[in-house]
Amino acid sequence: MTTQDATTGPLTTEAGAPVADNQNSQAAGVGGPVLVQDQHLLEKLAHFNRERIPERIVHARGAGAYGTFTVTADLTRYTRAHFLSEVGKETEVFARFSTVAGNLGSADAVRDPRGFALKFYTEEGNYDLVGNNTPVFFIKDALKFPDFIHTQKRDPYTGSQEADNVFDFWGLSPESTHQVTWLFGDRGIPASYRHMNGFGSHTFQWSNADGESFWVKYHFKTDQGIKNLTESEAAVLAGEDPDSHQRDLRESIDSGDFPSWTVYVQVMPAADAANYRFNPFDLTKIWPHADYPLIELGRMELNRNPQNIFAEVEQSIFSPAHFVPGIGPSPDKMLQGRLFGYGDAHRYRVGINADHLPVNRPHVTEARTYGRDGFLYDGRHAGAKNYEPNSFGGPAQTNRPLWEPVTVSGVTDTSEAPAHAEDDDFVQAGNLYRMMTEDEKERLINNLAGALSGVTRDDIAQRAIENFRKADADYGKRLEAAVQALRG
Ligand code: HEM
Repeated sequence: MTTQDATTGPLTTEAGAPVADNQNSQAAGVGGPVLVQDQHLLEKLAHFNRERIPERIVHARGAGAYGTFTVTADLTRYTRAHFLSEVGKETEVFARFSTVAGNLGSADAVRDPRGFALKFYTEEGNYDLVGNNTPVFFIKDALKFPDFIHTQKRDPYTGSQEADNVFDFWGLSPESTHQVTWLFGDRGIPASYRHMNGFGSHTFQWSNADGESFWVKYHFKTDQGIKNLTESEAAVLAGEDPDSHQRDLRESIDSGDFPSWTVYVQVMPAADAANYRFNPFDLTKIWPHADYPLIELGRMELNRNPQNIFAEVEQSIFSPAHFVPGIGPSPDKMLQGRLFGYGDAHRYRVGINADHLPVNRPHVTEARTYGRDGFLYDGRHAGAKNYEPNSFGGPAQTNRPLWEPVTVSGVTDTSEAPAHAEDDDFVQAGNLYRMMTEDEKERLINNLAGALSGVTRDDIAQRAIENFRKADADYGKRLEAAVQALRG
């Protein structure tokens, strides 16, 4: 038990013994070599060497804050999740926003999707929704994710991000056309984490008390309004204030200007899925609001900054596999891959007992498992039995699955997800382009052409342009002309 505050009183070693001198190490005579018996020196240098843990393989750069989620509409006809059971019910949340490709120390104001990771500390365990500020994604099978990310991060030879790699992968992965159009449009560089929307992006399953199931998509609409940066504004800000997003979030909360989001869901009855015009589990597609309108669910406000960034933000872990009763996964092949990927990353990055840290553990219930021991286990289970079933009144299974079963059929194979009536890789990219005003189109073309003009190989640039042409002939034509003009 700690009897003294760790931040006041006399300086000590890690073992708590008083330190006499924190300015001069022990030496063999004045001006002589340093002594190994100087425990304080050795311990201090050794601790310093171990201050870093592996940064996240993606989304390394981010900022976090705590807050409250409040239910504003009764959707119990769709889900039995307890934290959504009553209008006015409040649940503590922790949010971490991030960029994707940059390393831990990279600048915030860059063209990149923003992570929108949320942890709801519910009475039924922690529910994590690990989304982005984009409703769709570049690919639709987890098998392609490591290759995709390799093209976004540093090239093994040059050590820099390379336009050749980026556009080579996108050109060869036409399903990325929708998200690339989104990313190079106006919303591709948010002005801050407060001025962007968030999406669960995937389709998830909700099920009600009667066991009826639904497919849902989450939308978090910023109450601050959408604000974006242009390419040139971002270039200046990234240089002058690399921490712009992090600072903005912290300062706004410190000053009592709490950011908030109104939360909506789109709900599809389970029976609609088979014949919907788009594959509802394809992460490169949205569900047009005309098909499934937004239904209000709640409001999220962020109102408390973390006290220690390393402990609470760097060591925070979010997993798409953290569900609570009434909420579950869909067969989306990306989501299925993510159900494995995150827990594995956490065990590597923070360790097997990462769930025990204050930011990660449940706040309004206890984790009751028979998992024990491992690095930094804190002995929380004392002498309780470490096996189950047991005759000592230990925690036992509930016999009620968190989500409802899904009917499947067919053969096991490395198959593509089924195409629905209106599915192809270009239709929604084209729709997005055609929805833009002339000014928006102009900026999109300029942004994309600027990036494409960095590609050194014509065949790679041409193949990438073809995808945009397939989305919309005008889009492709203008892009090609703009790239040619830039390349001379
Ligand atoms: C199959 C595809 C994907 C894989 C394998 C994958 C894998 C990962 C991994 C390993 C991390 C680092 C986790 C950690 O170290 O704590 C991560 C972070 C993250 N990913 Fe993904 N990811 C995928 C797709 C996506 C998609 C589609 C989204 C959004 C819709 C997304 C949003 C995020 C966010 C927000 C974080 C940061 C979480 C945090 O703040 O700690 N990822 N991803």
